[in-house]
This record gives sequence, C-alpha cells and structure tokens, in this order.
Amino acid sequence: MARTATRFECQECGESYAKWQGRCDACGAWNTLYEQQASESAPKGLGTGKGRQINFVPLKGHEEPPPRRVSGIAEFDRATGGGMVPGSALLVGGDPGIGKSTLLMQVAAALAGKLSCAYISGEEAIDQLRLRAARLGLSEAPVRLAAATSVRDIVATLDDGEAPDVVVIDSIQTMYLDNIDSAPGTVTQVRSSAQELIRLAKRRGFVLVLVGHVTKEGTIAGPRVLEHMVDTVLYFEGDRSHQFRIMRATKNRFGAVDEIGVFEMTDGGLAEVSNPSALFLNEHDPDVSGASVFAGMEGSRPVLVEIQALIAPSSQATPRRAVIGWDSGRLAMVMAVLETRCGLALAGSEVYLNVAGGLKINEPAADLAVAAALVSSMAGKPMPPETVVFGEIGLSGEIRAVSQLEARLKEAAKLGFTRALIPTVRKRKGKGRSLPKMDMKIREISHLVDLVSLLAVPKKSSSESES
Ligand code: TYD
Ligand code: MG
Repeated sequence: MARTATRFECQECGESYAKWQGRCDACGAWNTLYEQQASESAPKGLGTGKGRQINFVPLKGHEEPPPRRVSGIAEFDRATGGGMVPGSALLVGGDPGIGKSTLLMQVAAALAGKLSCAYISGEEAIDQLRLRAARLGLSEAPVRLAAATSVRDIVATLDDGEAPDVVVIDSIQTMYLDNIDSAPGTVTQVRSSAQELIRLAKRRGFVLVLVGHVTKEGTIAGPRVLEHMVDTVLYFEGDRSHQFRIMRATKNRFGAVDEIGVFEMTDGGLAEVSNPSALFLNEHDPDVSGASVFAGMEGSRPVLVEIQALIAPSSQATPRRAVIGWDSGRLAMVMAVLETRCGLALAGSEVYLNVAGGLKINEPAADLAVAAALVSSMAGKPMPPETVVFGEIGLSGEIRAVSQLEARLKEAAKLGFTRALIPTVRKRKGKGRSLPKMDMKIREISHLVDLVSLLAVPKKSSSESES
C-alpha cells in the first residue's frame, strides 16, 4: 500500500528524518533539512517470492584494461587517471564561478575532433554558451549543444539512434524528473536524475560528466550524495582572487586519487600549467624572513610552494592565529612543539601562516617547512638561500621521514635549489643509506632543536655539511 509521507531530508548527505531538526545527526551539518513529499510503500521485507540463482566466477579472468577517452589537455587527462573511461560517470564539483563550465567546454571541444560530444546545459541559454565558446576560440568545434533540464527528454534523445561518446550535463542541480514532486536541486531530484543518466551511460557506453555545485549554505543539494554513485569525483578548486585552479581527483575507480591538474584562468579560458612549482614560486623573495620553500607532493607529482609566517607581538589575552592553506590544528601542534621542546616563546604572539598562491596543502610533510618559516620570522632572519624544506614533526620534536624523498629533491634541483633540509635518512637492512646522489647540499635534521639552532645561530661554515 502506497502512502504519502512527509519526510525531512538532509541536503548534504541524504539522511532522512520523520521530524525537522536543526542539525543532521548523520553528517553534523546545520540547517540542511528540507521537507520532502515522499511516496513510499511500507517495507515488506523479502516476502515469499523466490530469487534466481546467481553465478560465481573465479577472481582470475581475461579483462582488458579499459579504453580511455584522452582529450589531449594533459592536466585534465592526468586528473582523470589517464583519460575518461567509456560507460563511466564523472562528477566535477566546485564552487560556482570557479570555471567548471569553461573547462568542460574546452574538454568537449578538444574531444569533438575524434568523438561525438554533447554538451547539455540547464544553467545557460544557447546564446550564452556560444558566447563563451567564441571567447575561448572554439566556435568551430563540432560540439552538439543543447539547453535542457528534463531528464526524460534528455534520456529519450540520447537513447534514440547513435548515442554520443561523451555527454556533459551542466549542472546536475538543474535537472529534474517530472514524476518526482520535489524541486530541482533537492536531494531526491539530484539523486534520481543522476541515477537515470548514469544507468543510460552504462547501457549505451558513453562517458557521462556531471557538473555539481558545492555551496556552503547547503541550500542546493551538495554533490556529496552523488559521490557514491559515480566512478570518479573531481574537485575543481582554487581561490577566486588567484589565477590558478586545481583539479583534484578524490575518488577514482579507474586510476589513482590525489592526482592534480593545474590550470591558469586567462582571458581565453583555462590554460594548462605544466610546471606548477615555477608558478607558485614566481614571487618568492629569498631575502625576506619568515618564508620557507616546501617541497611537497600532490599525487604523483612534486610541487614546490612558498610558506610564509608572521609572528607579531599581541596585546590581547588570546592572540590571533590565522592560517590560510593549511590545517590550523596542525599549526597549533607545530607551535606547541616549538614552545615545549625548543623553548621558543610563541604563546603571547599573534601568528599568521599563509601558503602562497592560494594552494591548500594537507601533507604532514609540510610541518618542518612551517616550523622553518615560523622560526625564521621569530629570528628575523631569512632562510639560507636556495633551500627547500620538508619533514614531519613528531610530538617530542623528532623529525620523521616522509615518502618520495627523491622526487621532491629532484624537483627542487630542477628549479635551481641547491640546498635541502630533510629528515634523517635511515639505513635500510642490507643496503646502505638510500640518499639519492645529486648535486645538492643536503642537511639531515633529526630534531627540531637542530633547525632552531641552524636559523638562530648564523654559522656559515659549519651549518651545512655536504652529504
Ligand atoms: P564558469 O566556467 O562559468 O564557472 P562555473 O561553471 O564553475 O560556475 O567560469 C566563470 C568565471 O570564469 C567567470 O568569472 C569569468 C571567468 N572566465 C575567464 O576569466 N576567462 C574565460 O575565458 C572564461 C570563459 C571565463
Ligand atoms: Mg557553470
């Protein structure tokens, strides 16, 4: 027996409740519960109907690696794990205005030479899309363009005759199914529309790219509910006040996660940045105090970035702490270690930390570079010139080893850095020390105290030992 019930569904995670409440118990988000008219039948369990037998097969089989749709935009292809897989669904999430439509228009146009591509927009009219294409210099590309929002119409069109190879839906929040009562953008609509489109993509074997907006207010269904449904989740992030944008894979059934593609927003659309380190460091001034260069890893890719710190006297009882681009909890930890293990007095000062260029780092390997920037700011002395820093800090002040030592050092050498402060490289069983051979003065640091003495006491000749 079907009955119509009023349920309250969280727009962030999709959890549903019988009563309204301010906070979703499942995901902890506030004010995300909205009323949904759901027609649901009472759960009946399995009943008495008999199921069919399913077949089991061995793990070993002859599966070909999936073919890939390679756009030729290397930064995008890298983020997708080497190209998009036919029959798979990708979600491209990001703040409004960050450049999702621009990038996907460029990708569609790049693919359109070899494949048939459809770009369906529910957000913009055909004129606007054409204007954008003209601005990008892509008016001649044979992309099939449509403005539509009804999933029924879209499915009927795509299923009729020869399906395209790549379909972009911009955005999933504007799509609706006419047999569902709730408004476009609600969890129910977003989920059901995506389900229909994904099912069609699997059946007809085309690549489906869904655009999803993430809003902080949570009034539009966050694409969180979609993350489980799609094969690949790409987040397009960046600071609108900065030119560059990063596409990061957070889930990929067909490739590695955390791979990034770096772009720069220009007048003519998104340009690939094949050497991001040079971009992030282009304003780095080696002669100022309170700055260090961190050799980080983004996926399989080394990226150098400048970390800036400022320590200022404070007259307030609780001095200000502000962090941009790094975890504030992690900063508090590094400061606590500097204070307790190295005897630096930071508690009464205001502390500001900034990852230059607007990049967000979440590697613990940045600890040592953060500490270096802080100590350099405190001492009022710049870091030794042409130096990169990386290493994780433990609570007792010990510096721990990090992964991909060689890749980090190589990138630094490539960009003209001649010195490195790194964690102590341990002897491996049966092998010697695995410090890579390179033309660089490498200083191994085992405890944070060493870093403090290195910066506070300027001993030119003995402060560096060649490895
Ligand atoms: P858009 O792709 O519409 O963002 P989204 O689809 O993620 O909402 O990008 C919008 C911004 O990009 C807009 O502020 C203008 C800027 N832009 C450029 O700087 N250069 C360009 O060539 C284009 C097309 C857009
Ligand atoms: Mg858009």
